[in-house]
Amino acid sequence: MTLTTSAESILERARRDVEDGLVPAEIFNDRGIYERELGRIFTRCWVFVGHESELPDPGDYRLRRIGEDSFIFLRGDDGVIRVLLNSCRHRGSTICRLEVGNTATFRCPYHAWTYDNRGELVGVPSRTTAYRQLDLAEWGLVPAPKVDRYHGLVFACLDPDGPALEAYLGRFRWYLDMQLAATEGGMEVLGEPHRWRVPADWKSGAENFTGDSSHTQMTHRSILTLGLADEATAGRVGGANGVHVNDLDGHAISLRLLAGTGEAFLGYPRELWPAIENGPLAPGQIDLLRRGLVHDGTVFPNFSFIHFGGVIDSGRPASGFLSMRVWQPLGPGEMEVWSWMLAPREASAEYKELAYRAGMTTFSPSGHFEQDDTIVWSGIARSARSTFVRKQGIRFNYQMGMAGMADTAPMPDWPGPGRAWPSNAGESGLRAFHHRWLEQMVGP
Ligand code: FES
Ligand SMILES: [Fe+2]
Repeated sequence: MTLTTSAESILERARRDVEDGLVPAEIFNDRGIYERELGRIFTRCWVFVGHESELPDPGDYRLRRIGEDSFIFLRGDDGVIRVLLNSCRHRGSTICRLEVGNTATFRCPYHAWTYDNRGELVGVPSRTTAYRQLDLAEWGLVPAPKVDRYHGLVFACLDPDGPALEAYLGRFRWYLDMQLAATEGGMEVLGEPHRWRVPADWKSGAENFTGDSSHTQMTHRSILTLGLADEATAGRVGGANGVHVNDLDGHAISLRLLAGTGEAFLGYPRELWPAIENGPLAPGQIDLLRRGLVHDGTVFPNFSFIHFGGVIDSGRPASGFLSMRVWQPLGPGEMEVWSWMLAPREASAEYKELAYRAGMTTFSPSGHFEQDDTIVWSGIARSARSTFVRKQGIRFNYQMGMAGMADTAPMPDWPGPGRAWPSNAGESGLRAFHHRWLEQMVGP
């Protein structure tokens, strides 16, 4: 039997604790908290839906989720990308059950109401004989109130009064630009996203990617021991510096950088390095790319990325890759990870193949980094539902770096927005994430 505590009392404790870098254990596995997250986070924040390169042709569609709701992410025959609730306007049956496809129309399996690929209702059996009046124009599929794109990333927001996407991403755009717009063609998705269920809370993935650098040497030790990743990239040896950047409305990034004049360019193909150096980004961004071994970050609430160089494949340095992921909530203490692999559009087919393989080896359902991580996150969800843990009011500790370590003062000469902390050993990004989470959960 699990001791139930109301979401209100958990949040009340969180309010007191978060300033001290503490978090009530239950938030990682509690029905009341989870339902409040659906209502206050996933229906109010901008949530990643997909990449426009997944829908190259008119009529292409993919099924995606926002919170727990199913949406059709599609490109109409007018070329416009839309995000439509996957629910029939007649009596609510699920319109589309195929995950991926191309179609001119969607026909409901219940009574055959039919919609075109712009979401307009175009066919109703017995419309002229059985209804007093049925205006097709009023009964199209319901669109997400706000849909917008940023460098090919498509986000949706279910709150019609929410901020514009650019404002929501805010100053964090400076860091997203580095991942997505270093070369003229930008990034494109390779293949289909990988998906797999993990018995862990969505926040465990999201907070980890804000800058949990200190787990690498422990959780991923076997990878380093076996020589499956470049040691500097993986954070084991000197010669590379860690920086955590936050104070960006809960979005955060962690960077692992070569010192001085080192060149890594996040594993981009060498022939693209001049294009990056002479490209559209600011000198400070170009410098962080040039020295970049790993950039990983989270856009609140559940979209993360890892731009990773230095993978070793069969004893040889392979390529870098960009994995974008969504920590899709499925229930309290349960999520589905979605991971898309990307490479620069201009890269050769050979490089893209290598990038995909590098991503598969590391951050995928069969990737060694990924499996190390998800197993430790599932332990958190298990602790969080423990009756004893709840009775004790146990809090988790996020205080690393609050005092006595290198990250007590932000870097004065950091070229980008936010506050940058010169350390691998701090939890400032995670604290910033939980501040934003709490604001979202208890704010007006
Ligand atoms: S529920 Fe879709 S046609 Fe009736
Ligand atoms: Fe990890």
